[in-house]
Amino acid sequence: MVREVVAQLVRREGIYVDGTLGGGGHSLAILQALRDRGFENHSFLIGIDQDSFAIEEAAKKLASFREKAALVQGNFRDVVSIVNGIRTRELDRMPVAGMLLDLGVSSFQIDTPQRGFSYLRRGPLDMRMRPQDGLSAADIVNGFEERELADIFFRFGEEHKSRRIARAICARRIERGDITDTEELAAVVRSIVRGSDQQVKSLARVFQALRIAVNDELGALEDVLRDGVGMLGPKGRMGVISYHSLEDRMVKRFFRKIATDDWGPKGVGMKEPLRRAEFRVVTGKPEIAADDEVRENPRARSAKLRVVEKKEQSGG
Ligand SMILES: C[S@@+](CC[C@H](N)C(=O)[O-])C[C@H]1O[C@@H](n2cnc3c(N)ncnc32)[C@H](O)[C@@H]1O
Repeated sequence: MVREVVAQLVRREGIYVDGTLGGGGHSLAILQALRDRGFENHSFLIGIDQDSFAIEEAAKKLASFREKAALVQGNFRDVVSIVNGIRTRELDRMPVAGMLLDLGVSSFQIDTPQRGFSYLRRGPLDMRMRPQDGLSAADIVNGFEERELADIFFRFGEEHKSRRIARAICARRIERGDITDTEELAAVVRSIVRGSDQQVKSLARVFQALRIAVNDELGALEDVLRDGVGMLGPKGRMGVISYHSLEDRMVKRFFRKIATDDWGPKGVGMKEPLRRAEFRVVTGKPEIAADDEVRENPRARSAKLRVVEKKEQSGG
């Protein structure tokens, strides 16, 4: 959704934060748009990704903008310390004009079997976006109790057969030892779910659930939404692209909450709100990818872009 992101976010000079750098496609488009619109001299891009491979890939793609960007390996939940570290040193406290989060995994991560993100490719059950850091999917699948596994599949995958799948995983662990690769886990899921269509859906949900748990994706999103909007300068915008309903719901509710005036307790009959909202929701309905993009990249079919803007004056 590069066109949509650029149209919604690139509107003024300032710092642009791409919290999910990936291969650098969105960052490149933002930097090009800043140049084309004459904002380049007073703008700077900070790209963040927790995956060192993404930083390497993006550095190649953004080589011609080396002077105008800093790329940092880190978690976007630490956006305040990452951005302030660079801003106070080099950027004379320039306002944050735009922040982008293009959530989830990159195609590069999915397509690398050794990362273990895809049930379509045989690889170790890993799924860590920051490789070698914290629990892997195998640690969870082989170490968690049945009830905990069922909870993960239900909460983070909205999988209806969560309990039966968790039970089958635990039985398989006892019978044949640890589940170490993606195909072994996929085989357990297939043994529980009938019909190839349903199997594909359950596989996607179980793998998504594990990925979310491994990377604490919802916890990180909660942190970056709260801290990210707090960094925006006047008229600065945050855009979030989400790919599944759990994320989209969180973003929608959060944006709505910060864009709502606080009237205090009901029934008091106030004439003025206690506190006026400092933000406004720009996208009533989320933007979705255009047909040509979906044809080129089927994953874009489920993408939803929501945008919120900090008002010109606080409380105004
Ligand atoms: C969908 S891809 C982004 C693609 C990117 N917009 C582009 O144009 O190539 C998501 C990226 O976000 C990164 N990511 C996900 N959660 C993160 C987090 N909490 N902190 C930092 N990076 C994260 C992933 O490693 C992945 O590279």
